[in-house]
Amino acid sequence: MALLELNNVSRHFELRPGVVERVLRGGKTRVIKAVEAINLSVAKDEILGIAGESGCGKSTTCSMVAGLLPPSSGEVLYRDRNVGEMTSSELNDHRRRVQMIFQDPYESLNPRFRVSDIVSEGPRALRLWGEREIEEQVAAMLAGVGLPAGKYWDRYPHELSGGERQRVGIASALVMKPELVVADEPLSMLDVSIRAGILDLLKELSRQRNFACIYVSHDLSILANIADRLLIMYLGQAVEVGSVHDVIKNPKHPYTRALISAVPVPDPRVKRSPPKIVGEISRPVDPPPGCRFASRCPHADQSCSEVFIKLDTNSPLAHQAACHRLEQINSEAT
Ligand SMILES: Nc1ncnc2c1ncn2[C@@H]1O[C@H](COP(=O)(O)OP(=O)(O)OP(=O)(O)O)[C@@H](O)[C@H]1O
Ligand SMILES: [Mg+2]
Repeated sequence: MALLELNNVSRHFELRPGVVERVLRGGKTRVIKAVEAINLSVAKDEILGIAGESGCGKSTTCSMVAGLLPPSSGEVLYRDRNVGEMTSSELNDHRRRVQMIFQDPYESLNPRFRVSDIVSEGPRALRLWGEREIEEQVAAMLAGVGLPAGKYWDRYPHELSGGERQRVGIASALVMKPELVVADEPLSMLDVSIRAGILDLLKELSRQRNFACIYVSHDLSILANIADRLLIMYLGQAVEVGSVHDVIKNPKHPYTRALISAVPVPDPRVKRSPPKIVGEISRPVDPPPGCRFASRCPHADQSCSEVFIKLDTNSPLAHQAACHRLEQINSEAT
């Protein structure tokens, strides 16, 4: 049984016209299709990496997984229970089992709370343990993320470096003993020099504490380092899924190929000719029904803006790409 399953999950936002647009162009409400018919599953103890350009729906997907945002359609199942149908006490329990680590360690910590207050806030709010046990658990958790309680217990966020703040964010999530951790670009606001240390810490903790993880990043080299499987998204659609090895060594979808060939290789002798992608990534406002990459894809034909293939989660180990012209593209390439 998968720990988490998303079945045909979409999230749309209404984009209401401003006053000027209404007066000048009689503007209508348009729809941002931030996430479209996503199928995915995460197994117990698995680390699923999600990659894709800015605005492709990664954070929206994470918020739906954590029960912070309802889907517009489809279902999010956690241990076979539909999150949208949970009672308030089940939802509280879900929010303990599924913890988020946020991108911005500067904004996600309450500046008026001490480190010990921040990390004990969750266990106190849900009355997980008595006061004395909460203090013991928080002290142990702080030590586990490399912030010994003797030194950090009474500190305020402004007295911490970016890396230390992110360690506090990790401690606040893990002290809840989650089964699934959703880490939404946890390194992107940090200095490059300290990213490796935080990444190693997360990997080590996931092994020690046996939690599953959804790890979101723009950076494929980070995902190659931490994830077991990879999901690639483009403008709200899932375009490729598979083991990290398969997706990185043998990308199938034209978008994934372009993304991987754009990763720098530290060897000047390696020559590559990345597939050409034309145009800029746009917003998924009233998009056509087919593949959203079609307008930038060097292999697209007319049919691509009409046909959209959904990836199938029932075979979580399979390597799949959401492109109906794969065979033609491969035969053109050989
Ligand atoms: N609350 C909202 N209201 C309207 N539009 C939204 C809302 N949240 C997200 N969007 C839109 O949905 C799309 C996906 O946003 P999302 O934040 O999920 O992208 P992302 O992949 O996390 O991007 P980034 O890499 O920049 O964090 C974007 O076009 C964004 O503008
Ligand atoms: Mg985001």
